[in-house]
Amino acid sequence: MLNIIILAAGLGKRMQSDLPKVLHPIAGRPMLSHVLEQARALDPSRIVVVVGHGADRVREAYAAEGLHFALQQPQQGTGHAVMQALPLLLEGDPDDACLVLYGDVPLVQSDTLAALLAARGAGLALLTETPADPEGYGRIVRDADGHIVRIVEHKDASAAERAIAEVNTGILAAPTAALRDWLGRIDNHNAQGEYYLTDVVGLAVADGVAVGHAQPGAPWETLGVNSRIQQAQLERVWQAEQARRLLEQGATLADPARFDLRGRLRCGRDVFIDVGCVFEGEVDLADGVSIGPYCVIRDAAIGAGSRLEAYTHVEGARVAEEARIGPYARLRPGADIGPQAHVGNFVELKKTRLGRGSKANHLAYLGDAAIGERVNIGAGTITCNYDGVNKFQTVIDDDAFIGSDTQLVAPVRVGRGATLGAGTTLTRDAPAQALTLSRPEQKTIEGWKRPVRKS
Ligand code: UD1
Ligand code: CA
Repeated sequence: MLNIIILAAGLGKRMQSDLPKVLHPIAGRPMLSHVLEQARALDPSRIVVVVGHGADRVREAYAAEGLHFALQQPQQGTGHAVMQALPLLLEGDPDDACLVLYGDVPLVQSDTLAALLAARGAGLALLTETPADPEGYGRIVRDADGHIVRIVEHKDASAAERAIAEVNTGILAAPTAALRDWLGRIDNHNAQGEYYLTDVVGLAVADGVAVGHAQPGAPWETLGVNSRIQQAQLERVWQAEQARRLLEQGATLADPARFDLRGRLRCGRDVFIDVGCVFEGEVDLADGVSIGPYCVIRDAAIGAGSRLEAYTHVEGARVAEEARIGPYARLRPGADIGPQAHVGNFVELKKTRLGRGSKANHLAYLGDAAIGERVNIGAGTITCNYDGVNKFQTVIDDDAFIGSDTQLVAPVRVGRGATLGAGTTLTRDAPAQALTLSRPEQKTIEGWKRPVRKS
C-alpha cells in the first residue's frame, strides 16, 4: 500500500497572482496536474493534497479526481503540513510507504520516484542532489562512515555544515506508521520557528531505521517554482525535454527550441515539424506528415502523408491521408477532410466533411456541410448555414462544381455532377448533372457616356 502526500499549501507570494501557485501552468497544465500524473504512475492507494492558500480553488479544480484534501491553516512548516495529512492516510502493513511530493516541483518523474521507493527498503529514503549552488537548501549530514545522520536547514546550519555540497530536494519516502510517530515528536525550536519535515531524519536514525537515498534522473526534475521567472524557465526546460523525446522517437523538428507542446503528441515515422508550431490537447500525426511553420493544432488527427502548410489552425478536426491544408487554412471542430483533399488559403471549415479528392482552394466558409468526392469549391463560396437562430445543412454530392462567389442558402442540396454558375445564390436544390445559376442577364448599353463635370 502506497500513500502519497502532495504539499500545496504555500502562498507563492512571489508569483504576485490571485491564482494559487500550484494552479499556474507548465505546458498548458497546472503544475499540480504534472505532479499528479507522475504520482498516479506509481499506482498509489491514496493521494492526499495538503492545501492552504487558495484551498477552495485547488479543491474545485480537482473535485472529480478521487483525491483527498487536508487543510493546513496557518502554514507552520513542511512537517506541520504533513501532519495535517496524517489522519487521511491509509494504514496497512507498518512498513507501507508514504511518499512526500511538492505541488510546486512539477517535473519530477515517476522513474525517479520509483528509484526512491526502491532505495527505501523498509525504512526512510531521501531524494538528494548536489547542485552548483547549495545556498538555501537543507544539507545532508553524514557520519564518518558516510551514513546519513540528519538534515540541517540552511538557516540553522554552521559554516562547516553550509560547506556540505549534498542537499535535500525535499522529496522523501518513509514508512507511514513510523512517519506518524516521528512527526509526533518534532518541535519548532529552530531558526524559522517551523515544524521541519526534515527533522524526521534524525529521529529515524535514533530509532535505528536505515536512511537510504536516491538521485533524480535529471537535474531539472527537482526545480521548484516560486516566481514567474522560474515558471518561465521551467516551461522552456520541459519543452526542451518534450522536444528531445520526440526527436528520440524519430520525428524531425526544424528547431527544438521553437516547439511547444501543451498536451500529448503522437508522431508516426518520418514526421516533420517546422518552427513555431503549438500543439494542444491530443494530437496524432501519422507517418510522413509534414507541418509547416507557425501552425496551431489542437485535438486533431492528421493522416499519413498529409501536409499542413504555414499558419494553419486546426481544432477538433480530422484529416485523412495525403491531404493538403493551408497555408492560412482554418479547420474548426467537426471538420473532416478526406484523402487527397485540398483546403487552401483563407478557407474555414466547421462541422463539414470534405470528401476524397475534393478541393476548396481559396477564400471560403464551409459550415454544416456534407461534401462528396471530387467536388470543386470555387473561391468565395459560402454556406449560409445560420439564420440567426438555427443552423442548417448543405449537401453537395460527388463531382459537383461550385462556381466562384456562390452562396448556398441552407438547407439546400447540390446534386451529383451539378454545376453552379459563378455568383449564384442557391436557395433551392440544384439538380444533378445540370447547370444552375442565378444571375441577372449581362447587358451592354452602347454609346453610353460617362457624366462630365460642367466647368
Ligand atoms: C524545504 C526543506 C529543505 C529543502 C528544500 C528544497 C524543510 C524544513 N526544508 O525547504 O531541506 O532543501 O525544501 O526546496 O522541509 N509548504 C506547505 N506548508 C508549509 C510550508 C511549506 O505546504 O507550512 C510547502 C510549500 O508550498 C512548498 C514546499 O512545502 O511547496 C516546500 O516549502 P518551502 O518553504 O519552499 O521549503 P523550505 O523550507 O525552503
Ligand atoms: Ca524552498
